[in-house]
Amino acid sequence: MSKERLIIFDTTMRDGEQSPGAAMTREEKLRIARALERMRVDVIEAGFPAASNGDFEAVRAIANTIKDSTVCGLCRANDRDIQRGIDALKGAKSWRIHTFIATSPLHMEKKLRMTPEQVLEAAVLAVRYARNACPDVEFSPEDGSRSDPDFLCRVLEAAIREGATTINIPDTVGYAVPEQFGEMIRRLRERIPNSDKAVWSVHCHNDLGLAVANSLAAVRIGGVRQVECTVNGLGERAGNTALEEVVMAVKTRRDFFNLETRIDTTQIVPTSRLVSQITGFVVQPNKAVVGANAFAHASGIHQDGVLKARETYEIMTAEDVGWSTNRIVLGKLSGRTAFRQRLKELGIELESEEAVNRAFQRFKDLADKKAEIFDEDLIALVAEGDKASAEERWRLVTMNQASGMGERPHASVVLAENGTERRAESDGDGPVDATFKAIEKIVASGAELLLYSVNAVTTGTESQGEVTVRLARGGRVVNGVGADTDIIVASAKAYVAALNRLVSKVERLNPQHAL
Ligand code: KIV
Ligand code: ZN
Repeated sequence: MSKERLIIFDTTMRDGEQSPGAAMTREEKLRIARALERMRVDVIEAGFPAASNGDFEAVRAIANTIKDSTVCGLCRANDRDIQRGIDALKGAKSWRIHTFIATSPLHMEKKLRMTPEQVLEAAVLAVRYARNACPDVEFSPEDGSRSDPDFLCRVLEAAIREGATTINIPDTVGYAVPEQFGEMIRRLRERIPNSDKAVWSVHCHNDLGLAVANSLAAVRIGGVRQVECTVNGLGERAGNTALEEVVMAVKTRRDFFNLETRIDTTQIVPTSRLVSQITGFVVQPNKAVVGANAFAHASGIHQDGVLKARETYEIMTAEDVGWSTNRIVLGKLSGRTAFRQRLKELGIELESEEAVNRAFQRFKDLADKKAEIFDEDLIALVAEGDKASAEERWRLVTMNQASGMGERPHASVVLAENGTERRAESDGDGPVDATFKAIEKIVASGAELLLYSVNAVTTGTESQGEVTVRLARGGRVVNGVGADTDIIVASAKAYVAALNRLVSKVERLNPQHAL
């Protein structure tokens, strides 16, 4: 007997993009959208079209490209926002307008300065306006988990009467706890007379680390059939519900949930890698499903058990979530055709022949230093190249550093600034510190370093190091990523990439911050 479906709604490019420094360009969003489509996500929330022309264009490009997922745009509950959403999305094969307004006493009074009656009216008019143009309309009462259930019943019943096809209950500040949240939704569905005319959904934030648990309780107790989530749990503050965790929980425990999703789970890890590369948000090693250690058995007892019978300590397989893909390698002798074919299989489509040539050259340079090139290496080198071509003011030409026990580290760096080479040297507390100081002598950005992290792209000491640098200046926060077999060079590349983003004219917006 076929099971009921759980709709997976991805908001990596809207809510996830609100993480500090995670804002993406149109091209980056398109790459992620294609990966989500390949993963067979049901609904892709592509952005907030009214937030800026940049986000409008990104949503429109995604709407015109994606064929196998519904493309959605978020709009506040007013005609202007919704019209922008309609204009951005109407070229899509399948599209959805998602409109929202806050319903909690705190948000209505302090943020919106509206009475509950005014909020109710705005919700009704918004859904009506959207439904006149689009058959698929989602309505969200923002801060739903802290809203008065009686008022929620009135607003949601009215929204469904106006034609909302999905009702999404957000736990906007991550305040909910699982049983209570599931129960609240069950009661709402029970009390609202027309509740069966809409699909019910949840959207949970992770401030108490409960986003996935709350979403699953809403599925199990509340009977919702859509979960909103992001790849790697990306999102503002502590993030959102992690897509990979919900999907694998439902799949692994199908005996309990009795549901199925449409997701091709083998695409989970490649998509996670792509999102991490593009946003500069590194996945913690012990993160469920997509963390580097998720399937690594370190203790002798576990290793012994797994070797005898995998199921002793593994409830799902690494291959099932796409970990095996990094075994497919290219090497020094691989030609352009194999390179291009592998990029295609990874869903990477470079815009022009020139971009392919540049990427191939970087691949050859890397193959000179590293015997085997893994998928992760390819993703890293393409991501790096994209940034470079799009917004390069400074380019790392060469660098040297010397350090040793008892010696003060010293670095010298040559950067090309709009084609002119400039050199600087510096000491530092460590080789990375010396390198960044030398770069700053040339650039004098005055930016504050918020984050520095190093990760191995693949396993083994021959792996490339992937460095993320987060810089802030004048309220703008950006991430830069660099990869190299030498982690000091990777650090310099990441720092320069972040600097280029800081001064870039390429539009990159955190949608909600722009409102
Ligand atoms: O967290 C939230 O409330 C949201 C809504 C707009 C769905 O992101
Ligand atoms: Zn949210």
